[in-house]
Amino acid sequence: MFPGSRPFMLSDLSLLIQISAFFLLIYAVYRRRKSIASHGKIASVAFYLVLPAIFYMVYNRAQGLTLPYYNWILSFHMLLGIMTIITGIIFVTNQWKWKIKKYMDLEILLWTGTFLLGITVYILLFYPVLLESVSLLRFV
Ligand code: HEM
Repeated sequence: MFPGSRPFMLSDLSLLIQISAFFLLIYAVYRRRKSIASHGKIASVAFYLVLPAIFYMVYNRAQGLTLPYYNWILSFHMLLGIMTIITGIIFVTNQWKWKIKKYMDLEILLWTGTFLLGITVYILLFYPVLLESVSLLRFV
């Protein structure tokens, strides 16, 4: 993704989609005090936006993708990712008895955790040298 380092890949596109969706989600959270209807719409758009990237990630995993280091991070990412999707489906399909603040807070927490782990997965896959430079991979 950085200029001159390697060709642009689908994983880069997936990353850009995930970043846009995450910012949209944050914006939806910010909107909730102004209009609850637009909060719901924007959060749903964020969810639909992320779907193609999720299909791509699941496909990659099904093809046997693993990490060169710390593969447990990928497993943890997938576990949180699946939980994020399940809670997301509950909200976008308007299951009202679950649409309460405490579950929405849980969804934001799950999404944020999955997203940050996803960024870590991306760095481990394509730029492990960045982690070496902060000595995180020295003991592997
Ligand atoms: C809302 C849910 C999810 C979010 C926000 C998310 C986020 C991310 C991000 C930001 C990356 C790095 C960019 C990339 O390479 O695509 C990534 C990579 C990855 N994720 Fe997820 N993820 C989610 C769900 C899942 C699920 C459900 C799985 C598998 C069951 C999964 C498997 C992977 C794999 C294998 C990669 C490695 C690289 C790739 O395939 O592109 N993710 N994820």
